[in-house]
Amino acid sequence: MCSLLPSFSLLLICTAGSWAMNVTMPFMEYLDQDRLVCLKWGFDSPAGDITFQLAVNTTGWVGFGLSPNGDMMGADIVIGGLGPKGSYFTDRYSTGNSMPKVDMQQSYTLLSMSENQNQTIMTFRRSIKACDDKDFQITAQPIKLIYAYGKTDDISYHGGRRGTKEVNLLNYMPRTIPANSSYLNVTMNNITVPSNTTYYHCKVMKLPKLGEKHHIYQIEPVIEHRDIVHHMLLYRCPLYVTNPYDKPCYIGDIGDACFEVVASWGVGGGVYELPENAAIPVGGEDSERLYRLEIHYNNPERKEGIKDSSGLRLHYTAKLRQHDVGIMTTGILPGNVKYDIPPKANQFHTYAICNTAHFSKLLDPVPDLQVFAVLLHTHLAGRKVRVGHFRNGKQIDFLALNENYNFELQQTVSLGSIKKIKQGDEIAVECTYSTANRTSVTQMGLATTDEMCLAFLFYYPAINITSCISIPDTKGVQMDANTIPQDKIAEYERLLKKAPQTQVILDSNVSTGLGYLMLTFLFCLI
Ligand SMILES: *[C@@H]1O[C@H](CO)[C@@H](O)[C@H](O)[C@H]1NC(C)=O
Ligand SMILES: *[C@@H]1O[C@H](CO)[C@@H](O)[C@H](O)[C@H]1NC(C)=O
Ligand SMILES: *[C@@H]1O[C@H](CO)[C@@H](O)[C@H](O)[C@H]1NC(C)=O
Ligand SMILES: *[C@@H]1O[C@H](CO)[C@@H](O)[C@H](O)[C@H]1NC(C)=O
Ligand SMILES: *[C@@H]1O[C@H](CO)[C@@H](O)[C@H](O)[C@H]1NC(C)=O
Ligand SMILES: *[C@@H]1O[C@H](CO)[C@@H](O)[C@H](O)[C@H]1NC(C)=O
Ligand SMILES: *[C@@H]1O[C@H](CO)[C@@H](O)[C@H](O)[C@H]1NC(C)=O
Ligand SMILES: *[C@@H]1O[C@H](CO)[C@@H](O)[C@H](O)[C@H]1NC(C)=O
Ligand SMILES: *[C@@H]1O[C@H](CO)[C@@H](O)[C@H](O)[C@H]1NC(C)=O
Ligand SMILES: *[C@@H]1O[C@H](CO)[C@@H](O)[C@H](O)[C@H]1NC(C)=O
Repeated sequence: MCSLLPSFSLLLICTAGSWAMNVTMPFMEYLDQDRLVCLKWGFDSPAGDITFQLAVNTTGWVGFGLSPNGDMMGADIVIGGLGPKGSYFTDRYSTGNSMPKVDMQQSYTLLSMSENQNQTIMTFRRSIKACDDKDFQITAQPIKLIYAYGKTDDISYHGGRRGTKEVNLLNYMPRTIPANSSYLNVTMNNITVPSNTTYYHCKVMKLPKLGEKHHIYQIEPVIEHRDIVHHMLLYRCPLYVTNPYDKPCYIGDIGDACFEVVASWGVGGGVYELPENAAIPVGGEDSERLYRLEIHYNNPERKEGIKDSSGLRLHYTAKLRQHDVGIMTTGILPGNVKYDIPPKANQFHTYAICNTAHFSKLLDPVPDLQVFAVLLHTHLAGRKVRVGHFRNGKQIDFLALNENYNFELQQTVSLGSIKKIKQGDEIAVECTYSTANRTSVTQMGLATTDEMCLAFLFYYPAINITSCISIPDTKGVQMDANTIPQDKIAEYERLLKKAPQTQVILDSNVSTGLGYLMLTFLFCLI
């Protein structure tokens, strides 16, 4: 199996900078923000071997893996180090958040292991093709690399010494910093985080004046308290939001209407880089707009008296790129929509629909939308999110697919290829929840214990439509999720799926351009 030639071809772009590096491993990325974990790699041909060198500022064990999801579940992992008894190195795989198991077939070869000035350097090699079913298949797509390390050679729980970064190993594009670039800090201002387990803080603000239009090409998290900052979203407000404030979110303030996502970060994520030909517009005709920064603090230990100034650093340039990026919200309208999920359901599906045929009511002509990344969002019961792409009533693709959804890892994920939404295409968002451990109904709503089903599509060129969401009308469904017997859950799910949905299409003014149309969800995802 390992001798089969891979079916893909690739184009390797060599930059001047790479000549200075080791020619066998020309690529380099820090996997963490503190620059303590450095990965170098290289390969001769996609049919051959790939060589990695991991250097970590520790004298303890070091671990590296390729993960389907950015967490340990299903990851292909190597762990090694230089201990009192010499070097150790094993190929492992993980079935969850526990000690990875040693793989029966050791597919990785250790080339060298050394320690130098408190740094462990582990060099190892593998064939690009997977050799057994526990090996991750390396393709020319962005791959989630994970790392962890210990302070000693006793391999045990890594605590906070872990992270993930998405890198396209076989089709690597070195990051370019545009000339004349600068950044904006969009952060909280030393707020007191209450000792509540879940707390959402909202700061509605004006951005510093930029004058003419600029382009945001990179979004960097600035996190003061890694233990409690769970996710951050920056939204652009409609024009009628004119007063800044600093308050808990979703208690009925006007800024709750700011729902046009501009930037996002989720726990486990790092710096997000936009594609080279596109960036998020800021300034210019938009200079009067306010923005809302929302931070979800997750404080299960109920720590008191934490002062926090976390937020996002938006790197921008005056040298405009070819396209403006837009972010379109699809899924079920967040908030009080009646779409109750019964307790004790192992796999309960909800559905939402976006019919882009209606865009022409707000906008003419409608360009093809090139989708390059997605951010999926549910709350604690979410297990899967699938975004189906339909044309003429037939599914042609998935715009996004996460079969191992993890609330703890909500990142913007680059698609391996750019997917084109044509005028008239339909987008179906299916979320799968598990309420097996719940004893009462889960409602759609804003609290972490409520549910949501959203997919944010990052695309270009930007159009003036910020949301294409639906509101299922379940009034006609006679079954009550509170009292539903377990053997009727599937029937209840089918009735909800057939309920009519109101299509809501919003532009950036939110209060105009509501396209209301009743439609019935007719799609079956493959
Ligand atoms: C590059 O790294 C490989 C593997 O560690 C090593 O064998 C080789 O000598 C290095 N080459 C240079 C020029 O440093
Ligand atoms: C190595 O770590 C020790 C203890 O943390 C420190 O005292 C020492 O200065 C470090 N050495 C180098 C070369 O960084
Ligand atoms: C990590 O270790 C290397 C080698 O000792 C050192 O040059 C570098 O400054 C260290 N990095 C940090 C962030 O401490
Ligand atoms: C750099 O950008 C600023 C605005 O951000 C602009 O005023 C200035 O002229 C630019 N400089 C160059 C050399 O492009
Ligand atoms: C951004 O915040 C950092 C501290 O996190 C500060 O050093 C820097 O001066 C700020 N930059 C701007 C442009 O506000
Ligand atoms: C935050 O506020 C507290 C008082 O509430 C003050 O002691 C502290 O210095 C402030 N920190 C910063 C970074 O401004
Ligand atoms: C925090 O929890 C307390 C007690 O449960 C509650 O009264 C308060 O409203 C909560 N605060 C926020 C901001 O959610
Ligand atoms: C449900 O609870 C059991 C026992 O407490 C636990 O092992 C399991 O992981 C839980 N399942 C989910 C989906 O939370
Ligand atoms: C988008 O729509 C808003 C409100 O309808 C309008 O103010 C704005 O000029 C439009 N922007 C573009 C780029 O068409
Ligand atoms: C935004 O919507 C309000 C209310 O419908 C309307 O009065 C206003 O003219 C709209 N603004 C723009 C720029 O379209």
